[in-house]
Amino acid sequence: MTEWMQTNAMLAEDPWQVSEHHFPREGTEDEQLLFLLNYAILAPSGHNTQPWLFRIQDDGIEVYADRRRALAVVDPGDRELVMSCGTALFHLRVAMRHFGFQPVITLLPSADHRDLMARIRLGASYEPTLNDHRLFMAIKKRRTNRKPFRDRPVPSPELDQLVQVAREEGATLHVLRSRSAKEKLAALIAEGDRRQAGNPSFRRELAAWLHSNRSSSRDGLPGKVLGFNDLASLAGPFIVRTFDWGEGQAAHDQQLAEGSPVLLVFTTEEDHQAAWLRTGQALDRVLLQARAYDLHASYLNQPVEVSALRPRLAELLNTDEHPQLVLRIGYSEQVDPTPRRPVQEVLIDEPPPT
Ligand SMILES: Cc1cc2nc3c(=O)[nH]c(=O)nc-3n(C[C@H](O)[C@H](O)[C@H](O)COP(=O)(O)O)c2cc1C
Repeated sequence: MTEWMQTNAMLAEDPWQVSEHHFPREGTEDEQLLFLLNYAILAPSGHNTQPWLFRIQDDGIEVYADRRRALAVVDPGDRELVMSCGTALFHLRVAMRHFGFQPVITLLPSADHRDLMARIRLGASYEPTLNDHRLFMAIKKRRTNRKPFRDRPVPSPELDQLVQVAREEGATLHVLRSRSAKEKLAALIAEGDRRQAGNPSFRRELAAWLHSNRSSSRDGLPGKVLGFNDLASLAGPFIVRTFDWGEGQAAHDQQLAEGSPVLLVFTTEEDHQAAWLRTGQALDRVLLQARAYDLHASYLNQPVEVSALRPRLAELLNTDEHPQLVLRIGYSEQVDPTPRRPVQEVLIDEPPPT
C-alpha cells in the first residue's frame, strides 16, 4: 500500500460514517477509486466475513475473493462467498454512477486467477437518475433486519420492480405472498434449522464468528443480531457451540417467515461461479431498491444451504432453476449497523497467491 493510501484522510474512520462530500472530485483517478472502496465495504456478506480484497490497478479496481474467510460448513462450495463479492461489486457500481461515471465491468476476467472476481473501472461520464441517487442513499441505510415485520402489505408495483431488477441482473425472483405458499416454505426453513443446529460443526463455525455486543471486532456477528442482550452475548459463542438449539430456532423462524408479508427466493439457470457472482449483484440491487422503498430484509437461506432441501425448494417453486437465496421483506424499525473492517485492511498491492 502506498504512503498516500495509508495516511489518506479520505478513508472514513468509522466505515458507516463515510460522507459523499469527501469525494476527491479534483483528485487523481486512483484517489477517486480508493474513495469508492468506502462504499464497497458496506456490502452484506455471509456471517459478516467480508470475504473480499481490492487492488487498484490500471485505472480500475480488481475485486478478489478472500477464500481464507470461507465458511466450510455452511457454504462448502464458496457459493455465498462469491455472492458476497457480488454484493461489494454492486455497491461499487452504485457509487460510481452516483459520482457521475458509467461503470465498466469485466466479470471473472482471468482464467489464471480463479479468485479474481471482477475488474471495474470508471467509464464515460454519466448523469445519475433519481433512482441512482436513491440506491446510493440506501447503501448507508441498508441493514440485515431480523426483527418481526409489521403486518402491512408490500405494494405490488414495488414487488414487480424488484422482480424486474433481479431479472436485469440475470436472476429470477419468486414472490411468495399467499398464506399457503409461505407456510410451505416456512416448514422447509424450520427443517433446515433443525438439521443445521443438530450439526456440531455448523454450531462451531457460527460460534467462531459470533462476538459479544461490546467486542471491538470489525467482522463477524455481534450477539445482538441473534437476539442476545449485552450480558447474554458474552456467553453467546458458548451457547451456540454447545447446545442443539434447532427446535427453538425452527419455531422462531417458522413464525417469522409466516408472519412476513412477503418471502422472496432467487433462482438462476446455472449454478457456477459466474452465476453466483451475478446473483450477488442481483441480491444487492434488490436489497438497495427495497430499502429505497423503505423496506427491510433478512435471510432465511436454510433450505438452500442444507443440500438435501434444495431440490425440495425448487419443487415448491415449480422451477427447473437452482435456488440461491431466500429473503423476507417488510416494514420495520431501523436496526444498528454491524461492524466493518476498514478499507486499509482489504486493500492489497499485489494479487493474492492463487
Ligand atoms: C450471500 C449472503 C448470505 C447470507 N446468509 C444469511 C443467512 O442465512 N442468515 C442470516 O441471518 N443472515 C445472512 N446473511 C446476512 C449477513 O449475516 C449480514 O449481511 C452480515 O452480518 C452484515 O450485516 P448487515 O447486512 O446488517 O450489514 C447473508 C448475507 C449474504 C450476502
